[in-house]
Formats: sequence, C-alpha cells, structure tokens
Amino acid sequence: MNQYLRYANTSLVPYGEEHYEKSVEWLNDPNVYKLFGITRRITRQSHAEWVKSLNNTYMWAIYDVKHYKYCGNLLLFYNPIHRSAFFQIYLGDPQSRGKGLGESALIAMINYAFENLNFHRIWLQVFPDNKKAIRLYEKLGFIYEGIERESHYSEKKFKNQLRYSILKSEWNFGNEMIKG
Ligand SMILES: CC(C)(COP(=O)(O)OP(=O)(O)OC[C@H]1O[C@@H](n2cnc3c(N)ncnc32)[C@H](O)[C@@H]1OP(=O)(O)O)[C@@H](O)C(=O)NCCC(=O)NCCS
Repeated sequence: MNQYLRYANTSLVPYGEEHYEKSVEWLNDPNVYKLFGITRRITRQSHAEWVKSLNNTYMWAIYDVKHYKYCGNLLLFYNPIHRSAFFQIYLGDPQSRGKGLGESALIAMINYAFENLNFHRIWLQVFPDNKKAIRLYEKLGFIYEGIERESHYSEKKFKNQLRYSILKSEWNFGNEMIKG
C-alpha cells in the first residue's frame, strides 16, 4: 500500500487518475521526454494502461506544499528479492524546478525506501548531459557506478547513460523524515 510522504516543502501523494491529464501533458513535452529518452507519444489511454500494468512499483505525485501545486512525478520500481530499487523523477512544471522540490521529494522517498520498506540499494540512470540532475544525485550521496555504453536508442542515435546508486548504509538523512 502506497503512503503519503512529506519532507520540507514537498509532499508525495499516491499517484491516481486525477494526475493523468497533467502527466500526459508533461510526458509529451520535449523538455521532459528528451531527458528520459521516451520514444513514443503518450495518450491518456496509453498512460492509463501503462500505470495499470506496473508491478512492484511505487508511484507518487510530487506537490509543492507552499503553493499546493502538483508539479511532477516520482516512480520507484523495486526487486523484492534483491531489495534493490530503481527510480525516475521529473518536475514537469518548469516553474517548479530549481526550488528544492526535487531534492526534498528524493529525500522523502529514500528515507521511506530505506527505513520503512527496508530496501538495500537505490539506483538510477541519467544522460551525461543532464548536469542539473547529476549534481542533485551527487549532492544526495549517490555513487557513480559507470557508463552504460550506448544503452539507449532514441532520435536515431545510441546514447550513453550513467548509472549511480546508494546503499542503505551510506544514507545519512534517516532521522529527518516527517511523515504526512
Ligand atoms: C532534475 C530535477 C528533478 C531536479 O529537481 P529540482 O527541484 O529542479 O532541483 P532542486 O531545486 O531540488 O536542486 C537540488 C540540487 O540540484 C542541483 N541543481 C538544481 N538546479 C540546478 C541548476 N540549474 N544548475 C545546476 N544544478 C542544479 C543542485 O545541486 C541543487 O542543489 P543546490 O541548490 O544546493 O546547488 C528537476 O530539475 C527535473 O525534473 N528536471 C527535468 C526532468 C529530469 O531531468 N529528470 C531527471 C532525469 S534522470
């Protein structure tokens, strides 16, 4: 069962149908889909089908608490045997970027994943030119694992992706969580 989470100026709300319309708009925005390498256009129906098909996944809508504004999404796909989870984050609303919301959303999620879900490892992939995201991940303590050479094909090109991870034993924010 998914939980409401809160940290600083951000709350994470279990993802529901009320979030589809905005998400579809964001996922069709080149400023978002190019950073993810999404290769096909998304419709409300394809999005709904995709959400319903997800297993072993937590999905949250990210809210800016101060303005009670829905501004992005955070997904956590986990392997229950290895207690290892992969996440994706995007703030679809451009005005919400650079205000600490992405950082707070990740702290809330990582605290929950390590402390409540007892995951062991959290990892991510990022394109090498996404410097903002890389700075955020390094600031939070994610360790660079290496380059996945030409692991992604989009826009008629193979692209490298960088892989980062953090282990429960390396995470330092464990006591600061405020649960909503
Ligand atoms: C990447 C993203 C989640 C970061 O969230 P954000 O709320 O914009 O970032 P924050 O305001 O929380 O900033 C946290 C840290 O990120 C880095 N950062 C944020 N904006 C930055 C910028 N314009 N330039 C460089 N670093 C930046 C900094 O390290 C910053 O910490 P600091 O302010 O102490 O220097 C968000 O910008 C986003 O969704 N971008 C589009 C989609 C995307 O790239 N998703 C990730 C795909 S892997």
